[in-house]
Amino acid sequence: MSEAKGSDVGRIALRDVSKTFDGRGGGRMALENVSFTVKAGETATVIGPTGCGKTTILNMVAGFVAPTSGQVLVDGRPVIEPGPDRGFMFQRPTLLPWLTVFDNIAFPCRHGRGLGLQRSATEIAVAVMHYLDSVGLSDARDLYPHQMSGGMQSRAALARLLIAERECRPRICCPSGHGACRRS
Ligand SMILES: Nc1ncnc2c1ncn2[C@@H]1O[C@H](COP(=O)(O)OP(=O)(O)O)[C@@H](O)[C@H]1O
Ligand SMILES: [Mg+2]
Repeated sequence: MSEAKGSDVGRIALRDVSKTFDGRGGGRMALENVSFTVKAGETATVIGPTGCGKTTILNMVAGFVAPTSGQVLVDGRPVIEPGPDRGFMFQRPTLLPWLTVFDNIAFPCRHGRGLGLQRSATEIAVAVMHYLDSVGLSDARDLYPHQMSGGMQSRAALARLLIAERECRPRICCPSGHGACRRS
């Protein structure tokens, strides 16, 4: 894989991206010739009516969905699969139900693919407590997902996403309905 050029680092770009989903009765056009650039450090919001393709754009940046035509570029390179350089806040919290909040948030440190750093249990615990505190869940560390409200679960999912920043500073894709994504 080639190195990103300096001017491309951190940049997300869509170039003439179209997406048609196959379905009964023919294809469904979700996006047509969408182009935009998000520079490093910029926060971008995609606004539009239900069904106009907002989540499809995020899914393509994350590498979950491929464009039918056009290019999705991150750091100047075409996106071909998900990777730890991009974080995704799913519309459902998707916490692991058999783990406590603490262990859910520790999960990327313990099992993160491609992060390449060995963390001691103490370092992981310090990091987890930092992010639990940053989303206001310090007192909930030993609860299981089913013992928390939907909002608490979303905040725990956000903390699980942010903890990866310690290692690889992901670009964060956050679909609608997530007040938890507003960062102070
Ligand atoms: N996996 C899929 N299979 C078929 N159609 C899909 C799929 N995902 C999205 N679509 C369709 O693509 C269009 C855009 O969907 P989406 O990106 O979820 O919209 P938004 O997030 O703006 O509400 C909709 O018409 C939706 O039905
Ligand atoms: Mg959506």
